[in-house]
Amino acid sequence: MHFSSQLILLGLTATSHAGVVKPRASSAVPDYFQTSFGPYAGPTKAGDAPFVAAQSAVPFLGGDFYLPNTPVVTNVPISGNANGGEIFKHMGNLSPYMPNPSGFGVNEYPLPPGTNITQMHMIHRHGSRYPTSDASVATVGDRIKGLLANGTRFTDDLSFLNDWTYQLGKEELTALGRQQLFDSGVLNWFNYGGLYDSSKPLIARTTSQVRMLQSAENFLNGFFGPNWTKNVTLEVITESPGFNNSLASDKQCTNHNNGKSGAGDDASSLWQEIYLKDATERFRESMTGTPNWTFVDTFNLQNLCPYETVGLGFSHFCSLFTWEEWLGFEYANDLSYYGGNGFASPTGRALGIGYVEELLARLQQQYPNPDESSIAINETLDGNSKTFPLDQSLYLDFSHDTNIFSIMTAMGLTQFAQFLPTSGPPFDRQLIVSHIVPFAGRFNIEVIKAPRPVLAKRPRDSRDSAYDNGTETTYVHMVMNQRTIPLGRSISECGQRDDGWCELDTFIKAQKENIVKANYDESCFGDYSTPKYGSIKNGTV
Ligand SMILES: *[C@@H]1O[C@H](CO)[C@@H](O)[C@H](O)[C@H]1NC(C)=O
Ligand SMILES: *[C@@H]1O[C@H](CO)[C@@H](O)[C@H](O)[C@H]1NC(C)=O
Ligand SMILES: *[C@@H]1O[C@H](CO)[C@@H](O)[C@H](O)[C@H]1NC(C)=O
Ligand SMILES: *[C@@H]1O[C@H](CO)[C@@H](O)[C@H](O)[C@H]1NC(C)=O
Ligand SMILES: *[C@@H]1O[C@H](CO)[C@@H](O)[C@H](O)[C@H]1NC(C)=O
Ligand SMILES: *[C@@H]1O[C@H](CO)[C@@H](O)[C@H](O)[C@H]1NC(C)=O
Ligand SMILES: *[C@@H]1O[C@H](CO)[C@@H](O)[C@H](O)[C@H]1NC(C)=O
Ligand SMILES: *[C@@H]1O[C@H](CO)[C@@H](O)[C@H](O)[C@H]1NC(C)=O
Repeated sequence: MHFSSQLILLGLTATSHAGVVKPRASSAVPDYFQTSFGPYAGPTKAGDAPFVAAQSAVPFLGGDFYLPNTPVVTNVPISGNANGGEIFKHMGNLSPYMPNPSGFGVNEYPLPPGTNITQMHMIHRHGSRYPTSDASVATVGDRIKGLLANGTRFTDDLSFLNDWTYQLGKEELTALGRQQLFDSGVLNWFNYGGLYDSSKPLIARTTSQVRMLQSAENFLNGFFGPNWTKNVTLEVITESPGFNNSLASDKQCTNHNNGKSGAGDDASSLWQEIYLKDATERFRESMTGTPNWTFVDTFNLQNLCPYETVGLGFSHFCSLFTWEEWLGFEYANDLSYYGGNGFASPTGRALGIGYVEELLARLQQQYPNPDESSIAINETLDGNSKTFPLDQSLYLDFSHDTNIFSIMTAMGLTQFAQFLPTSGPPFDRQLIVSHIVPFAGRFNIEVIKAPRPVLAKRPRDSRDSAYDNGTETTYVHMVMNQRTIPLGRSISECGQRDDGWCELDTFIKAQKENIVKANYDESCFGDYSTPKYGSIKNGTV
């Protein structure tokens, strides 16, 4: 159980014989501050213990090979990888955390002297985890067992499958996932520790799922150290169908769960059949008998590479695919997210709008008060200063990949609205899921106060003043996985600035309009027929 000493004091009642006041039993802590796993923790299953050091079967562990302490094995040999590329940087939402390697179209600029960061709003994905309960990759164990039982034998590159078993757990963070969040806590402490006000308890928010809770705890441990419960109270919002939760909105949005926003997965399947045609043929030639082996089976095997690597430290499945096939894998993820939570989804904006309502509330220091038709938050929690304080300079929230992707859509970041054909990636594609929501991916939204307007065209010589004539001006600077999002590119009113910033008032005005554009009730609860892939372009019906 974690709660700040202040909150324990609020619960003081019982008096012992000696007249010493003792804290009341933990039952006095309201549900939203209970961090022992409760009834909404969701299913989990631990995976088998890794033993990379003992995996002498690893083909490249010969000669003078040195295993770096990364700590998982990601430098597997990949056929066709001529330029030293790293496949783990192309795995969509299954990529372990990396800073965005290419940026979003603008460079990073320092704060001009005299300008301060006054707030930081963070929304952070959980770390590397085992497959979710319903993931099709979790069926591979039974599929292989069934084939072996029917007499199929695997040969050549697939021969390891004759002795392979499925060893992954379900839903929980892996050890690497814990490390990613701890590391991020450390990084964020260095970047933003100066914003922490130790005079009042900080509220940080996560959801009731085990990996969500543990991600927040590992982050806070990295940020504040092992006694972090003295510095921050963790608020745990119930994640379960029937509950409103801006950090896990899929559970409250009916049309997100009944197939109406499934076009992204359909589009992804069409592409999978194309880019995995050769691999499927290769694999068929490496098994005896005539099993009904399809591209779906091949795609499931490909998914085992990222999952086994983050869970067990090493995977035989990675080297089964070529460099081109890994780039294809990445695009398969892009299609899923674009059609499921992006601008091609009828619920793309709706799922993210609750967080936008909360961000607006915090930026304006007034409780959210959405229109009847756009209540995408829990109004009970968000109308109370104990559970939704408005006076913090640091806001630390934890969420899921799909939810964060939808937040980006809800914010109207149309840079990522470019149409994605099912025949293959477009030229200059902007939407790359591994740059947006890798495991432990994060948005850092900074509020920046300048004594005078900052020039949109930054001086080339760093000794020249970056200021324009005028009065105090406040900006929003959005950073995604350590690179700036150029707000003006999506929200034209923000202007084409070198630094990608947007004036706070302009940003607020645009986000208020975005709440309307999300069309929340109709998107989530409307009775419309399932849109075909490509027919939705603006993230709503
Ligand atoms: C095994 O073979 C039987 C009989 O041919 C068939 O019905 C069944 O679908 C096969 N199972 C698998 C996993 O291929
Ligand atoms: C954590 O708190 C305990 C009890 O207040 C204290 O004894 C310990 O020194 C603290 N540890 C650190 C690392 O600050
Ligand atoms: C966290 O709380 C402890 C105990 O009150 C305090 O010693 C420490 O300075 C706080 N950390 C920060 C960063 O203020
Ligand atoms: C809102 O949050 C409160 C406090 O956790 C909870 O009791 C209530 O069921 C929630 N309501 C909805 C609709 O999620
Ligand atoms: C082979 O598998 C696919 C996908 O699982 C299925 O649609 C098809 O009917 C199967 N064909 C045979 C001959 O079993
Ligand atoms: C939960 O969301 C629904 C749908 O928008 C809304 O009608 C209801 O008032 C909300 N409940 C709370 C407690 O916010
Ligand atoms: C930035 O912070 C410094 C030091 O607290 C302060 O003197 C200055 O006025 C601040 N600048 C703005 C624009 O608020
Ligand atoms: C600010 O105003 C002064 C006086 O009018 C002018 O000389 C200067 O060029 C202006 N600076 C900028 C950056 O526009």
